[in-house]
Amino acid sequence: MQNSTLTFAAALLGLAVLPLTACNQATASEDGRTSQQQLYQLCAQCHGADGLGREAIGAPAIAGLPAWYVDAQLSKFERGFRGTHPKDITGMRMRPMALALPGPEDMKAVAEYVSHLPKKKTKPTLVGGDAERGRALFAPCVACHGPSGKGNATTKAPPLAGLQDWYLLTQLEHFKSGVRARDPQDETGAQMKPFADALDEQAMKDVVAYIATLPWYR
Ligand code: HEC
Ligand code: HEC
Repeated sequence: MQNSTLTFAAALLGLAVLPLTACNQATASEDGRTSQQQLYQLCAQCHGADGLGREAIGAPAIAGLPAWYVDAQLSKFERGFRGTHPKDITGMRMRPMALALPGPEDMKAVAEYVSHLPKKKTKPTLVGGDAERGRALFAPCVACHGPSGKGNATTKAPPLAGLQDWYLLTQLEHFKSGVRARDPQDETGAQMKPFADALDEQAMKDVVAYIATLPWYR
């Protein structure tokens, strides 16, 4: 089952299949750190060994995201809250990877590893966003994501500062169209959705342009 999901996902992308045996050994390993690193080999083909992502396949930078958020999202992909909508092409690339992780401890372990990868400033790719307009539009976001967009474990809102602009825009579109936050059990998705619903395409670009001006740090 795990082998076939992995092969399927790799085939989708025309990628070489990683030897899953390495990951099985990783789970059996006594050394937590080695185990985390070996589990991360599953992720590196798309998110990069440095966790900085690959835009060509829509895989975002995940380096330095808090472990609680990475763990929560892996679980959402596994449970089908993300990556099951027919229009969620990028989510469907990711979902088999969450399913391929042997268990919840492995999700926590790989999330811990990801959270320790150093963040790097991302390059702007979008044009046509007005950061000044975006500043005003960002006002309601502060309540959950924090004034400098660095996220908040209490509201379960992830950091936004430092994420790639193309990924932020895609996710806002996905929340609004119901590609993300579609499952009634997805409570944190439901908290986010109305704030994306309130933005039209230009407003999304503006707010993303503003987020790109925020200082990014952990
Ligand atoms: C086959 C390519 C691929 C592999 C391998 C892969 N991912 Fe992903 N991942 C993606 C894509 C594409 C997305 C963007 C999904 C979307 O657009 O909603 C994503 C999204 C994510 C997100 C959501 C980030 C956010 O800000 O919400 C996390 C967390 C994540 N991946 C972690 C991992 C981990 C950990 C692994 C290894 C166990 C992994 N991924 C393996 C392609 C991949
Ligand atoms: C009521 C709290 C709340 C408010 C206000 C809010 N968000 Fe969110 N946001 C969240 C939560 C919680 C999540 C995580 C959803 C999940 O678990 O899938 C999230 C996720 C996101 C994501 C996806 C990030 C990723 O890594 O995939 C983006 C982008 C985002 N919010 C942007 C915004 C913007 C822009 C605003 C203001 C217009 C805003 N949010 C307002 C709670 C909020």
